[in-house]
Amino acid sequence: MKIMLATQKDSKEIADIIKRHAQDDYMGYATFSESYIKGKMKKNNFFFVAEDNDKIIGCVRASIVDIDLTEIRTLCVDEAHRKKGIATDLLQKALDFLKGKNMRKVAARCKADNKEAIRLFEKTGFEKEGYFKEHYRKGIDVVQMGKFL
Ligand SMILES: CC(C)(COP(=O)(O)OP(=O)(O)OC[C@H]1O[C@@H](n2cnc3c(N)ncnc32)[C@H](O)[C@@H]1OP(=O)(O)O)[C@@H](O)C(=O)NCCC(=O)NCCS
Repeated sequence: MKIMLATQKDSKEIADIIKRHAQDDYMGYATFSESYIKGKMKKNNFFFVAEDNDKIIGCVRASIVDIDLTEIRTLCVDEAHRKKGIATDLLQKALDFLKGKNMRKVAARCKADNKEAIRLFEKTGFEKEGYFKEHYRKGIDVVQMGKFL
């Protein structure tokens, strides 16, 4: 298993893994296609991927959204590979990368009942800083986690 910064050639596989984990009751507005990922990669978005036997089994997107404000998005690991620390490694790699770019703050959002994700963010130094009632979808609350680099 190796973790690396993705390049354009990984776009299709990245779109596929994001689609595998799409939470339609959460956001699901963007259509994750190869061209969507390629477009994001061209400007202020960096994807880190975990590869097992040359197949992408995990990914995270780091977006620079303002001068020194960043967001972590689409963190996911295929079910067969969970609970082995892969998401933690992906997240840590993205955080180190953003710190290296002199970014000041990282925000991440997930569903308020997503215990695994919230634990993971807290373990990597994020704190809960916002609670959004029925934000993207009716009936689904969202939390924002934040970390200063
Ligand atoms: C949330 C998600 C990314 C976590 O992925 P993961 O690779 O299983 O995460 P990790 O392995 O790094 O950590 C998860 C747990 O495994 C444990 N773990 C890590 N390494 C381990 C090992 N070698 N052996 C056993 N357990 C281990 C961690 O301690 C953690 O457990 P804890 O919550 O009890 O502390 C994954 O569940 C997922 O893809 N979910 C669907 C998408 C999603 O909800 N994404 C977040 C939205 S932002």
